[in-house]
Amino acid sequence: MVLSDFARYPLLFGPSPVHPLDRMSDHLGGARIWAKREDCNSGLAFGGNKTRKLEYLVPDALAQGATHLVSIGGVQSNHTRQVAAVAARLGLKARLVQESWVDWPDAVNDRVGNILLSRIMGADVELVEAGFGIGFKESWERALEQIRAEGGVPYAIPAGASDHRLGGLGFANWAYEVEHQEQELGVFFDTIVVCTVTGSTHAGMIAGFAGQDRARRVLGIDASARIDETRAQVEKIARNTAELIGLRRELRDEEINVIEGWAGDYYGIPVASTLAAIRLTGRLEGVILDPVYEGKSMAALIELVETGEIGPDSNVLYAHLGGQPALNAYSALFKNR
Ligand SMILES: Cc1ncc(COP(=O)(O)O)c(C=O)c1O
Repeated sequence: MVLSDFARYPLLFGPSPVHPLDRMSDHLGGARIWAKREDCNSGLAFGGNKTRKLEYLVPDALAQGATHLVSIGGVQSNHTRQVAAVAARLGLKARLVQESWVDWPDAVNDRVGNILLSRIMGADVELVEAGFGIGFKESWERALEQIRAEGGVPYAIPAGASDHRLGGLGFANWAYEVEHQEQELGVFFDTIVVCTVTGSTHAGMIAGFAGQDRARRVLGIDASARIDETRAQVEKIARNTAELIGLRRELRDEEINVIEGWAGDYYGIPVASTLAAIRLTGRLEGVILDPVYEGKSMAALIELVETGEIGPDSNVLYAHLGGQPALNAYSALFKNR
């Protein structure tokens, strides 16, 4: 099978926009930096990377006669907000398990941002005391059981829509989209920078790019602060996805680059470089990043360009994966600008 053989339910406006970040590039004085904008890829509740992944899970859910989309994440999960939006769009129910993944003291953490949007869209939101983890969780299994007991048909979507057979397809398709956009723009992105936590965004890209003629670096910037787990998950999903879309060779180890250094000590807690990256990108480009994911991957990009690790002749594509609604739960960090 090849990627176009898989059913895709359109949830995006079309290809996400690609544009240069000229003032950022001039400021850093090295590589030319561009962004591809998953944060404005869809009209469904601000979109984001999960909306793109869900395009390939929805046909499977519909084929199974699902009544509920069931998923899990932290209290400020972008993923569960996108599941809520997609369920609303399909006329299904959303059941969301929101765990206390981040020990964050904001008084309205469980009322603003993503969780607020999910409630507006009619999702059944359950707050659960449990720490960060990208694996399968008991709370999620319980939610699935409960829906079955009530006569519903739950469709199980794991954290980040990642550890799912079809989880990597959305970003394999992203890689094809990039190739077309490069032809239109007359540019080749030799380096891609992408934030990685539950893994299928980065993994899908690796699998998609692996089938193209020109090699490039796809740098996954860990924001989980659990690099070994993230790397293992990316590797597993990348290899599964590559096989699924008919790449007729094994992925090489050097194609799987998950790198650490910008996550700080904890998932969900920004560090100085995260906040500096958010402010710099806002002030130079009017582009908004969040403190959990994109601030961390942009901090990496900035340092890699400044140190020359990404060389001055490079064209870098920064994958902006969304996530801004969570900023509302981090307002105290910016009260003095
Ligand atoms: C805004 C944002 N960026 C990056 C990521 C990381 O993507 P993934 O979980 O597919 O590794 C996520 C979700 O976890 C996200 O919501």
